[in-house]
Amino acid sequence: MKTYKIACIPGDGIGKEVIPAGQEVLQALAAAGPDFRFEFSSFGWGGDWYRAHGRMMPDDGLAQIRDVDAILFGSAGDPQIPDHVTLWGLRLKICQGFDQYANVRPTRILPGIDAPLKRCTPRDLDWVIVRENSEGEYAGVGGRVHQGHPIEVATDVSILTRAGVERIMRFAFKLAQSRPRKQLTVVTKSNAQRHGMVMWDEIALQISKEFPDVKWDKELVDACTARMVNRPASLDTLVATNLHADVLSDLAAALAGSLGIAPTGNIDPERRYPSMFEPIHGSAFDIMGKGLANPVGTFWSCVMLLEHLGERETAARLMKAIEEVTADTRLHTGDLGGKAKTADVTAAVCQRLKNR
Ligand code: IPM
Ligand code: MG
Repeated sequence: MKTYKIACIPGDGIGKEVIPAGQEVLQALAAAGPDFRFEFSSFGWGGDWYRAHGRMMPDDGLAQIRDVDAILFGSAGDPQIPDHVTLWGLRLKICQGFDQYANVRPTRILPGIDAPLKRCTPRDLDWVIVRENSEGEYAGVGGRVHQGHPIEVATDVSILTRAGVERIMRFAFKLAQSRPRKQLTVVTKSNAQRHGMVMWDEIALQISKEFPDVKWDKELVDACTARMVNRPASLDTLVATNLHADVLSDLAAALAGSLGIAPTGNIDPERRYPSMFEPIHGSAFDIMGKGLANPVGTFWSCVMLLEHLGERETAARLMKAIEEVTADTRLHTGDLGGKAKTADVTAAVCQRLKNR
């Protein structure tokens, strides 16, 4: 029997609640079939680790998880620690250290979920946002001089490399090609950002020639927000820079009903390193420790994890169980206007996996 090694990093806040829920669901899947099993290792990195050790993860942290098949990540963020420290010290360290350059964010309106757009049916909103995850506005290049003086200067330089843009464009075109509509929207801002984004557009055109069967168009990022609201059905797969896609994916999640259901995969398409899957909701300190967190974002991330491992059938089975559960509004957590608890939703999904 195959054994998949999964590193679990719950991190901070509700990550500590939803990641164990995700493990429970993965165990239930493995128990229901004879095909494979999971071997989990857990890492207590994050805000608590920082308070104890002065950093978010150990110096040899990457080496410790280098050889797993996939990583399941909760969230990083702590009210007592500056956000840029928690982000750069853990999540970006893993994403950039393992060159997980493609961040994939699917959005759909799941059954039973009340989405805010009137005139929009679940069929009209089925998107995947591909976020460049290794450079751009998150390259970390910049600095501060003359700190505290009136002449203080601070810069954050967005870095776009030809190699980096080519590989994310190729990944996005390939993903668009694999979906029924074979349609890609390249999000840009080359009217205002006249160097990097102009190269981005040029490379999109160049890579599009390798995919003659993919229909593609270009959209300015600001216009894209309006298009997502006004003409959701005109979009399918989108590719955008790190920061543009960060903003668009929160809008996408909200339009689909809740940030609590949105999943993501930080993927190394070349499989040199393990890829990392996580809900996008963040640490949500206002509800932590109360059992109120919606675990659906983590479960959907587990679907992506299984797809990445090549377990497509099992992934589809989990997605079906998730959709059956969201369809029952009595199983909605607070973010969806319901009263269910994390444990109720988890038990309901596990139950459906047992009764296959
Ligand atoms: C996301 C999040 C992160 C980001 C935060 C937590 C820094 O918003 O995954 O979209 O901006 O990348
Ligand atoms: Mg974000």
